[in-house]
Amino acid sequence: MAEIRKVGVVGLGAMGAGIAQLCVEAGLETVGREVTAELGQTARDRIGHFLTRKVEKGQFEQEARDDAVGRLTLTTELDAFADCDLVFEAIVEELEPKQELFGELDRICRPDAVLATNTSALSVTEIAAAASTPGRVVGMHFFNPAPLMPLVEIVRAELTEDEPFERAFAFGERIGKTPIRCHDTPGFVVNRVLIPLLNDCIRVLDEARVTPEDMDAGMKNGAGWPMGPCTLVDLVGIDVHVHASEALYEKTREPRMAPPPRLVAMRNAGLLGRKSGRGFYRYD
Ligand SMILES: NC(=O)c1ccc[n+]([C@@H]2O[C@H](COP(=O)([O-])OP(=O)(O)OC[C@H]3O[C@@H](n4cnc5c(N)ncnc54)[C@H](O)[C@@H]3O)[C@@H](O)[C@H]2O)c1
Repeated sequence: MAEIRKVGVVGLGAMGAGIAQLCVEAGLETVGREVTAELGQTARDRIGHFLTRKVEKGQFEQEARDDAVGRLTLTTELDAFADCDLVFEAIVEELEPKQELFGELDRICRPDAVLATNTSALSVTEIAAAASTPGRVVGMHFFNPAPLMPLVEIVRAELTEDEPFERAFAFGERIGKTPIRCHDTPGFVVNRVLIPLLNDCIRVLDEARVTPEDMDAGMKNGAGWPMGPCTLVDLVGIDVHVHASEALYEKTREPRMAPPPRLVAMRNAGLLGRKSGRGFYRYD
């Protein structure tokens, strides 16, 4: 299997910047693409800031931090990916722009380059269909925040070939993650299980008239969860959870996937959890 030496990341938002950080920390030359130079610079500053915090905590040497930041080059052009061995896509969660991008990447990248999407809820097979060589398209589904969450789901689409699939798996290990293999089904593994489970917990709040504090204490102390479900939904973001639930419901039509009305109302009221200062709990 050819070694991956140079990586590209398209979209340096919450996920793309985290993935780019993992790559430069692992010593890989990395090209990041944003729609404007300013957005690219904002992402680089954020990566630099997180790595500085690691230096302050004694987890990283200053020189290693500076070298890592130096390994990230920014671009607004897709042509910069022509010599990459692996390109991650982490742009908006919409099929059309992703398909358009994979069509272009397919044309620009070397034929042996692996093309990976970080989609959470779209079909990797549908995204890959836009490429004339869909065999090298895989899902690499990281969890937020990518630098901290150990899991990456390596998703095999209908036409994914063995070699790129295993290269993606090996790359996940190389950047220090715990990869797992799965096929392209709605929600893959973790979200397929976790989203309806969290929705059940929220519905039980009303059904059994439980407080969020008691629900969290119940699942932590009775089921061994490291974090209660209300705390978790607040951390994920209520808007993000509602969006993921809607996407899974649309695909599976299983009632448990649909977002509970209480969460939709919270989202509509701007109670988004930790990031807005208030969700099930208050964060001052
Ligand atoms: N946020 C999460 O919890 C999470 C978890 C796992 C997977 N994902 C998936 O990762 C992807 C990105 O999500 P996010 O939360 O980082 O979104 P985000 O909105 O934070 O970032 C998307 C970024 O992509 C940029 N962008 C859009 N189109 C582009 C293009 N054509 N070229 C270059 N840059 C472009 C935007 O400017 C933005 O900065 C989505 O597919 C999402 O479903 C998100």
